[in-house]
Amino acid sequence: MQRNRPILLGIVGDSAAGKTTISAGIEKILGPDRVTNICSDDYHKFNRVQRAEKNISALHPDCNYIDIMQHNFYQLRRGEAILKPVYNHHTGDFDPPVYIEPKEFVIVEGLLGFYTKKMRDAFDVKIYLDPDEELRVDWKFKRDTVKRGYTRDQVQASLDKRIDVSTNYIRPQRKFADIVCNFYRPDGAEEETGTNLNTNLILRPTIHHPDFAEFIDHRPGTKEKCLTFTLGRDEGLPVDILQITGNIKQMTAETLMDIIIDHLDKCDDLTIDGVGCYFEGDEEKTSYPLGITQLLTCYHLMNAKMNA
Ligand code: G6P
Repeated sequence: MQRNRPILLGIVGDSAAGKTTISAGIEKILGPDRVTNICSDDYHKFNRVQRAEKNISALHPDCNYIDIMQHNFYQLRRGEAILKPVYNHHTGDFDPPVYIEPKEFVIVEGLLGFYTKKMRDAFDVKIYLDPDEELRVDWKFKRDTVKRGYTRDQVQASLDKRIDVSTNYIRPQRKFADIVCNFYRPDGAEEETGTNLNTNLILRPTIHHPDFAEFIDHRPGTKEKCLTFTLGRDEGLPVDILQITGNIKQMTAETLMDIIIDHLDKCDDLTIDGVGCYFEGDEEKTSYPLGITQLLTCYHLMNAKMNA
């Protein structure tokens, strides 16, 4: 069925929580022709020099144009074009704004996307990325030294400086998400093992989820420790928890992905290509927990589209 309104996905998480990686995978599954991807870092109020002078972190709401961001989210949701600011991570300053027309799906990734109720209400699907802290810190060191040209000492200083602002403003947004995605290392692994990372997906009853219980209980060969579906509590409320470990058997993972793809097929004639990719530079490796997370998100977006 042809719908006019773009469907908005919000992906929020602390610095280097994996937002860009997840967004890229979702865009790849749905196809770049159907997805507009924006990053809310572009709404920083001050450039790097000004932030240093004012001693304010980029993560602080006062350092971001929350009102403009909010306004732009609703314009995109209505299908209207926006003139979006651009923050350049290389120069630490702003580039000229760009004209953005929303496609069928709009992914907004950033630090403060769920900060106000009005912002949250703009999204059809909300995801909060909550990797284990040691993993996030590892990712932060890697990204900021390799891609952003900082030394390890500078990254450490920035992490130390940001603890309070992250605790007070970023992490509290976790409770507003429909899905919380917690990646963690296998026991005993000290290195970042992207393809083997385990994930807990906390599924809140704020949106409709596929019936994993039926799949896990009745499909032969799926009663493995690497895939569990349990009822739990999170932030004091009952939730479903889908736990997928990185060593999940290929057959099990692919069967689970097929179930989700079947659902997607019912919503849309989507050609799924490149699921399960773990992006690191130009390399693509298969991470089933990540692939399943990305596919599941596409399922939610398609569902939202049907009901919009
Ligand atoms: C962190 C955040 C970014 C933010 C940046 C600004 O790294 O994850 O999203 O834009 O801080 O700081 P910068 O390194 O560009 O001065």
